[in-house]
Amino acid sequence: MKDNKAKTDYLNKIIVEPMDIMQFLRESEDLRDDICPSVGKEIGKLLYFLAIYSNSKKIVEVGTSIGYSTSWLGMAAKKNDGHVITIEIAERLINEAKANIKMMNLEDNVTFIHGFGENIISDLPSEIDLIFIDSATKSYERLYEVSLNKLKKGGLLIFEDILFSVSGKRNIQKEMMNDFNIKINNDNRIEKSFLGIGDGLLLCLKR
Ligand SMILES: C[S@@+](CC[C@H](N)C(=O)[O-])C[C@H]1O[C@@H](n2cnc3c(N)ncnc32)[C@H](O)[C@@H]1O
Repeated sequence: MKDNKAKTDYLNKIIVEPMDIMQFLRESEDLRDDICPSVGKEIGKLLYFLAIYSNSKKIVEVGTSIGYSTSWLGMAAKKNDGHVITIEIAERLINEAKANIKMMNLEDNVTFIHGFGENIISDLPSEIDLIFIDSATKSYERLYEVSLNKLKKGGLLIFEDILFSVSGKRNIQKEMMNDFNIKINNDNRIEKSFLGIGDGLLLCLKR
């Protein structure tokens, strides 16, 4: 993934976040060991672009952390007159993300839910426009099924980190991710596109 890293580093230099606090959030992560990394700027911008392009109003995110990707989705929701529901298992992070989203004036467009994404999504109303999954990869298979069930026809389902362990040494995780990717690739309920940006992004369009 060395080539990809050089390209990502280049893009990260030229992409500018629309709010200073977004840059602050992303950069402050490097000084912390109590949170997992957020998506890069290029993926944040792509999420925003896809949400705008698809005119998504009902947006769901799994894996809020401190709200960096939520801010890109929240901005798109604001522009589309829509709303983001973001789900996080770590309660301490929800409080922090809430404060960050408020500082960006996006609080009217984002609702925070504490819990496991796979359980919460099952209880949400259907006809969701866009779902972004960036949680523990061991939940991906279950999250895929519940999300597909709740997505509207033509809705977008996006997974982050699908190549994270594929090139690594951790065999169990590598096999699990490989099985997931193969399952998706063979699923005729969706159109799909595997992208090698960041740690791997998977775009699914419900047929
Ligand atoms: C990689 S971080 C999310 C980063 C965030 N999306 C961003 O780019 O700013 C993953 C987060 O998912 C949360 N998480 C893990 N498994 C989860 C699950 N099954 N449901 C909800 N949240 C989960 C973790 O606590 C962690 O904060």
